Amino acid sequence: HDAVEVITAKRDRGELSDSQIDWVIDAYTRGEVADEQMAALAMAILLNGMVPREIARWTAAMIASGERMDFSGLSRPTADKHSTGGVGDKITLPLAPLVAACGVAVPQLSGRGLGHTGGTLDKLESIPGWRASLTNAEMLAQLEDVGAVICAAGDGLAPADKKLYALRDVTGTVEAIPLIASSIMSKKIAEGTGALVLDVKVGTGAFMKDEARARELAETMVALGQDAGVRTVALLTDMSTPLGLTAGNAIEVAESVEVLAGGGPADVVELTVALAREMLAGAGVTDVDPAERLADGSAMDAWNAMVRAQGGDPEAPLPQAKESHVVRADASGTLTRLDAMAVGLAAWRLGAGRARKEDPVQAGAGVVWHARPGDEVTQGEPLFTLLTDEPERFERALSTLEDGYDIDDAASYTPAPLVIDR
Ligand code: URA
Repeated sequence: HDAVEVITAKRDRGELSDSQIDWVIDAYTRGEVADEQMAALAMAILLNGMVPREIARWTAAMIASGERMDFSGLSRPTADKHSTGGVGDKITLPLAPLVAACGVAVPQLSGRGLGHTGGTLDKLESIPGWRASLTNAEMLAQLEDVGAVICAAGDGLAPADKKLYALRDVTGTVEAIPLIASSIMSKKIAEGTGALVLDVKVGTGAFMKDEARARELAETMVALGQDAGVRTVALLTDMSTPLGLTAGNAIEVAESVEVLAGGGPADVVELTVALAREMLAGAGVTDVDPAERLADGSAMDAWNAMVRAQGGDPEAPLPQAKESHVVRADASGTLTRLDAMAVGLAAWRLGAGRARKEDPVQAGAGVVWHARPGDEVTQGEPLFTLLTDEPERFERALSTLEDGYDIDDAASYTPAPLVIDR
């Protein structure tokens, strides 16, 4: 094979053969296929699509580009969760220790944030001492001892995807469903989890703005997981409104700890418990109620053990932003809309996220909202608190938030379900 042959086949709407796919992924990983050639192929795939057989083979080839982890020797079953990314989406933080407290091990490989959605590792790194990098041996030991690990994926896992994802990011080819599905699932299958729940977000703050595309992505990923022997289900969940009451890093850790203490915002608790039930069912554990493990403190014990195992001090005070700015309600009434994208962009502009991969994030930065859609607000009362170390960031964050919410009469508010479908 050669690169031009594969590119032109897809350009002309052909189906790629198994051997073309195996060859192009392997040759790209080795540097024999150049970035500009892979970029052309990615664009042809974005425009012309792939049939299920091609997507499955593409995923398998990306898995084969690196190592596969194996947790089959653990004394308990494994389950993991992947979210396609949202605003205020700290669910992994309470979820992993909660599921561990129910007897299922959680090998969660996570990423850092880019753009308006936060990254789980960025949030956890606000805990003094906590480290994201573990060796495979450390990961295995922690899964056996504590039952939950949230860490960075090592370089050995799906290296073809690392290279390709970075290329797609700068060539306008992220949004192709075959490429998104194979990217996510290659990493989750290579990670070796026995069961997987996908939290596919839909709404203004999500990757997929419309439900039909989110559904197609969910169905594509579930098929890939099932084919590879991973018990996979997907929930379609709302991301038109941000989750909880905080978007940032340390402030999302604090909110997660509230959930683990048996409190916290109702929507965060609802989604955490719903995803925990799916993970437990996928792992074959049906006799434990995760809500009880939040109430009885055992999920919090698992959190403390998980943080300590990775060098963190769960008792240490979390970093705080140097500056804050309060936005007050300009009218009385019902908060009828709070836009996830507006809140996510504001948090990002305050320094909670990064513009380029190598940028640092501010641990204390972010947005706190003091009301959720459906809540009554009173003119002059705090609606948002903006947090940053650099006060010159307030102005741009404020301009983003301005059009991000409505205060109206209660009749114009229609509550939307958080879990849209399974
Ligand atoms: N997340 C991934 O890991 N890959 C994608 O392609 C998109 C989101």
